[in-house]
Amino acid sequence: MIRIKDDLYWVGVKDWELKKFHGYEFTTENGSTYNSYLIKGGKMTVLVDTCWGPFKEQYLEKLDNTIGLQNIDALICQHTETDHSGAMTLLREKRPDLPVYCTAKAKQFLESQYHMEWNCVTVKTGDKLDIGGYELTFIEAPMLHWPDSMFTYIGGMATLLSNDAFGQHYATGYLYNDQVDQSQLWQEAIKYYANIVSPYAKMVKPKVDQFLGLGVPLEIICPSHGVIWRDDTMQIVNRYVEWSSGYKEEQVAIIYDTMWLETRDMAEALGRGVTGAGMTAKVINASKTDETHVMTDAFRSAGILVGSPTVNNGVSVAMASIMEGLKHLKLQGKQGAAFGSYGWSGEAPGILQTRLEEAGVKIAGGPFKQLHNPTREELDKLEEFGRQFAEGLRQV
Ligand code: FEO
Repeated sequence: MIRIKDDLYWVGVKDWELKKFHGYEFTTENGSTYNSYLIKGGKMTVLVDTCWGPFKEQYLEKLDNTIGLQNIDALICQHTETDHSGAMTLLREKRPDLPVYCTAKAKQFLESQYHMEWNCVTVKTGDKLDIGGYELTFIEAPMLHWPDSMFTYIGGMATLLSNDAFGQHYATGYLYNDQVDQSQLWQEAIKYYANIVSPYAKMVKPKVDQFLGLGVPLEIICPSHGVIWRDDTMQIVNRYVEWSSGYKEEQVAIIYDTMWLETRDMAEALGRGVTGAGMTAKVINASKTDETHVMTDAFRSAGILVGSPTVNNGVSVAMASIMEGLKHLKLQGKQGAAFGSYGWSGEAPGILQTRLEEAGVKIAGGPFKQLHNPTREELDKLEEFGRQFAEGLRQV
């Protein structure tokens, strides 16, 4: 139990060895944390969120040894995904009387996930709970990132408990944003945003505006994963607004797969053109690169070029997966084109172009079909397209 400020404590779990999250969807090289918080008011002691199931025994034992489970008066369940609700069934065995404050959707989700009735007190945006000395205000945050999600503002502490929003999958020996390596922190924050929040980007700014419209002081943001924002707290809020509004850097992601290096040669020629125009080219072999990172690079880029050889009248399995992932991100304001080599029928570039359009990417040329090995002249033409494509991105 670590004191954050006043009567607010961190009582969460650090999952140092976690390497995959959401099953095998999301890579977590730096582990993660399941942040749980305890607020000691004059009238009530309140627990906010729990932890993932495999840690439930150690989590509750630690809580029992420090505060005593019998001394907790309520649980606030801000989001029922199992990485935060996983200890709730065991807590319920020990404290069946404990009221659970949550949204109506969260009540439904608790029932459908755990097949049991819960002692829920459902709350809506603006509902308040006086715990003695501090007033909690609940703020529903549907689709940030589940329909059941909500935030909790602690009046009297200028603190927002934001659940998954503003989080990072990042286990460190520290608790606060100003204590950790900044480049690592921001890489984890944007990777988390791109892969988890980006599909729901439209919800970000209205929710930020709604919260700022309350006109309440804000000193600390406590997310449910990673470090707590206490230094220049608004920086993560401002980045979320920026990321959610057609964010792009002067970068082109050239994502390809290759069988006999022909499509790779095309990718590299395009990359030379992009670089020649003074823009960063990220040339990425989809078969050899972690997909969570590929998605992050695509999210950051102004342009996305995708390439695949034609395999059995289709695209490679690695590129099929990439194109599905890109569609999930609901990209805004990106331009792209497709390319690929073939020996017989040559469908892949056309299929990739259609997938790009489905992912919301505006087509700016191509598709470029290459019969077997490209000649020097053909590579020069691709390089020239890469240069023009990058220059075109600057004019948008
Ligand atoms: Fe961290 Fe949506 O769970």
